[in-house]
Amino acid sequence: MALLPIIIAPDPRLKIKTKPVDKVDASARQLMDDMLETMYAADGIGLAAPQIGDKRSVIVVDCAGKEADPQPIMMANPEILEVSPKDFAHEEGCLSLPEHFAEVVRPDSIRVRYLDENSELREIEADGILAVCIQHEMDHLDGILFVDHVSALKRNMILRKLKKSKKQAAPAGV
Ligand code: NI
Repeated sequence: MALLPIIIAPDPRLKIKTKPVDKVDASARQLMDDMLETMYAADGIGLAAPQIGDKRSVIVVDCAGKEADPQPIMMANPEILEVSPKDFAHEEGCLSLPEHFAEVVRPDSIRVRYLDENSELREIEADGILAVCIQHEMDHLDGILFVDHVSALKRNMILRKLKKSKKQAAPAGV
């Protein structure tokens, strides 16, 4: 397993559309393991492949909470089959937009089909935080960030601040 650097917005690598995998082979499985380790190390509850610069449709989530036993879910090619008519508003954050949060409204529950870490086709139903998290990570696979769901005013403010802090963090003289 390996810790991977997480790409911070704004960055064109976060805006790509990912490609589905044919199957979860050793390389995709390695990617899932590395992403999970990176996510836990960063104290996140979800991570999508573009956030570490990979173009495959792979996400990992674990919404069990710090006190509970880990419940990692690794998904390749996730696809939403059904959404509830009821919505759920939740304050979202993202490892690629550190220290910024905004309320996003999404369907309250979803049914998702995906390939698991053993390349088996699975379906799960999710609601609450898990549903939020899966939908947020799936957005990343289409180049969509949570700020794309909020007003342009708020989005631009957040992205401007991130750009500024990236500049400050860059080595001097470049
Ligand atoms: Ni995110």
